[in-house]
Amino acid sequence: MKAEVFTNTVTSNFKQSMWTFPKIVAHRGGGTLAPENTIAAMRCGLSHGYRAVEFDVMLSSDGVPVLMHDASFGRTVPGPGAVANSTAEALRAMDAGAWFSPKFAGEKVPTFSEVIDFCNDNNIWMNVEIKPAPGHDFETGRAAAALLRQRVGSSGSMPLFSSFSMVALHAAKETAPEIPRGFLIDTVPNGWQAMLEDVCAVALHTNHKHLTRDLAKAVKDAGYGLFCYTVNDPARAQEILSWGVDAFCTDRLDLIGPDFS
Ligand code: G3P
Ligand code: MG
Repeated sequence: MKAEVFTNTVTSNFKQSMWTFPKIVAHRGGGTLAPENTIAAMRCGLSHGYRAVEFDVMLSSDGVPVLMHDASFGRTVPGPGAVANSTAEALRAMDAGAWFSPKFAGEKVPTFSEVIDFCNDNNIWMNVEIKPAPGHDFETGRAAAALLRQRVGSSGSMPLFSSFSMVALHAAKETAPEIPRGFLIDTVPNGWQAMLEDVCAVALHTNHKHLTRDLAKAVKDAGYGLFCYTVNDPARAQEILSWGVDAFCTDRLDLIGPDFS
């Protein structure tokens, strides 16, 4: 009984610390200015002054977390095929840059481990979106959390997990409870607060297109951080910030700088 009370107190205190993370975040590394989820994208973000990044983590067939948004090949790497059926070595051999521009041909699919190193070396804060291939939610959350917890502390800043998958967030919570979590959802349903409580999330991450001033107020009044994706128009960015939104990610690093307010 005592342990339960202690856990609840810690959770409550953590939530009350609200948003302690950066405000403006580069989506998928370099937004639309570089091939997404690559080291080249992270370099692009750095060249625009960004030291905060969101990226997507998926699991290879042999259990290695890599950066990838789509479960199936064909868009950012040549298809056909699927991430969950490919080893990390096979994924590493793929070209993740040529689809974007010949200038980026030969850019690799990075492992999550390589990206943690890059971010730590360059003092970049990470919003790690756990993006499981269908049916691989638990093991993806567990593997991402196991890896990240080994490296937390070496960069000096606390990263933040987020996911559309409750199962993945549960796995991350079980594996690395000390790394905070945000619950991602496109349109916020009634009952959102119970969902955040279920995974002990510190923040709600949602599509700005469906956000209202009233909803933003409700989330903030409940003591949660509020993060929006993907905001590319400076006027809209100013509007949602005026509603109390704590942070957002953007594809337009050229229009919205890291010190935008
Ligand atoms: O984490 C915010 C955003 O990246 C979620 O959508 O599809 O771009 O990963 P998506
Ligand atoms: Mg994402």
